[in-house]
Amino acid sequence: MAAAVISSTAAAGAPDAQGASPLAQQGARWAADPAVGDCGICHHLPGHDPRDQGTVGPSLAGVGLRLDEDALRALLTDARALRPGTVMPAYGRPATGPRVPPALQGKPLLPANVRDAIVAWLTTLRHG
Ligand code: HEC
Repeated sequence: MAAAVISSTAAAGAPDAQGASPLAQQGARWAADPAVGDCGICHHLPGHDPRDQGTVGPSLAGVGLRLDEDALRALLTDARALRPGTVMPAYGRPATGPRVPPALQGKPLLPANVRDAIVAWLTTLRHG
């Protein structure tokens, strides 16, 4: 019984990505992919089992109601500029410094096309 309740809860989150634009659906996949966005390490991503995800940051359920597209884009580009002291990485700022491997110097953590897709997905998260 408990398992049925949990899986129906997870399914209830999934329609956020279903029916969304292909870009937003790609963004949902990239956000969850441990090799790309890996946002679930800190956040609950709607449509996923919260037991597999982090609680360092707020749940992203309903974030498309709380923040508009420009605010979401700015936050993903450089969260520290908007929320000083936050542990959320600045995904759109070029990585520099002695501990950044040479191949990654000057590149953002996530390329612009990935950030665009993730922002498109975030705007669809309109269920609290
Ligand atoms: C290392 C942990 C960490 C990672 C990784 C991370 N975040 Fe965050 N995020 C946070 C924290 C902490 C906050 C709260 C910001 C603050 O300090 O006020 C936050 C805030 C946010 C918010 C605003 C939520 C709100 O309700 O105001 C959004 C949207 C967001 N993150 C999206 C993402 C996305 C998309 C990714 C993946 C590309 C990501 N985050 C990766 C830690 C993280």
